[in-house]
Amino acid sequence: MVNTTIKTTKSQEIFAAAQNLMPGGVSSPVRAFKSVGGQPIVFDRVNGAYIWDVDGNKYIDYVGTWGPAICGHAHPEVISALHAALEKGTSFGAPSVLENVLAEMVIDAVPSIEIVRFVNSGTEACMAVLRLMRAFTNREKIIKFEGCYHGHADMFLVKAGSGVATLGLPDSPGVPKSATSSTLTAPYNDLEAVKALFEENRDQIAGVILEPVVGNAGFIPPDAGFLEGLRELTHEHGALLVFDEVMTGFRIAYGGAQEKFGITPDLTTMGKVIGGGLPVGAYGGRRDIMSMIAPAGPVYQAGTLSGNPLAMTAGIKTLELLQKPGTYEQLERITKKLADGLLKVAQETGHAACGSHISAMFGLFFTSGPVHNYEDAKKSDTTKFGRFHRGMLERGIYLAPSQFEAGFTSLAHTDEDIEQTLAAAKDVLSSL
Ligand SMILES: Cc1ncc(COP(=O)(O)O)c(C=O)c1O
Repeated sequence: MVNTTIKTTKSQEIFAAAQNLMPGGVSSPVRAFKSVGGQPIVFDRVNGAYIWDVDGNKYIDYVGTWGPAICGHAHPEVISALHAALEKGTSFGAPSVLENVLAEMVIDAVPSIEIVRFVNSGTEACMAVLRLMRAFTNREKIIKFEGCYHGHADMFLVKAGSGVATLGLPDSPGVPKSATSSTLTAPYNDLEAVKALFEENRDQIAGVILEPVVGNAGFIPPDAGFLEGLRELTHEHGALLVFDEVMTGFRIAYGGAQEKFGITPDLTTMGKVIGGGLPVGAYGGRRDIMSMIAPAGPVYQAGTLSGNPLAMTAGIKTLELLQKPGTYEQLERITKKLADGLLKVAQETGHAACGSHISAMFGLFFTSGPVHNYEDAKKSDTTKFGRFHRGMLERGIYLAPSQFEAGFTSLAHTDEDIEQTLAAAKDVLSSL
């Protein structure tokens, strides 16, 4: 039995003060531990696969700042590139060669991207891509999938997965009906439902947007033929296919899920890894579509800090590190060890569970499954997940504080980290 008493006095003090300063004490809702109970841990620093809280406790981290930290936190080469970039200033608000370098790297890597626009977040990328979809097709309706999250813009806050689901908000107050009236939804992995929507809305659907591998309803991979089917249906109906690879980009494979599954969408949104831990987003795709973006074309989209030199620098260095031979083999090996191990431990300790992984993304649901979509995911025992989460935290393992979030590994996670995690999981699950 591991010592499970951790002291979190300072975390508690700081979070108590934060509650009076910021709504719910946080800058983004899923950080608030609402769905797992207890108080969030307040961080002091991160390095490699680890985080340290303000009370000095060390945790093995499987959140990775929600995805960007694929090379490990504060990688020395990223930090030193940032130091050098910092000397030249923090923002230009004008073109820099760094944008060209990162753009070329993204274009070379991601099959669908012929030309790219940098923004500051995944939300911004998805908002812009939606405007572009509508402008290019001259149609208003879009199809999204239940449990997929595409940022917090009004039009996407319909059955929007993780944060919204975790907080039990069906949609958000403040989103006008008119903003979502053109957003049609279907269950993930359900081609027939998508077909029906296309039939019912002939020549009205601008496109289909999805997480090609879902991370925001827990980890849900696409069924065989699903992505292919969407590609065919969108072609057939003159609609665009958009992969939201904010989470999967450079994580599922160097070229994202589109490389892994060999399906090329028309447009792609990105974020997280391409900013190496600094705020970034991007969208790109077919040149004929992207040429509609201002100032090349009439579709307006802009940003004071877009293409920020620090974000570009961290992104370039992160992608350089990912290009090294063996990177994705290592991510696959370590994540398989973790995901298979967690599932085995859960089953051996008598819990209904299912889970899987692809490359550096994984998930474990407390339901016997199989989980093909968000409805299936919701059958999970979230109370049990909350207790599991707390138990793991007390044993120095930091998991995303929601059953409906994918987990992330990094190049910094070692075999010993995984073994320690599995030992902790065994200990916790034996006592639940
Ligand atoms: C698939 C996906 N799209 C969009 C977003 C929004 O990105 P951001 O939080 O950078 O605005 C996220 C965030 O987690 C995401 O996972």
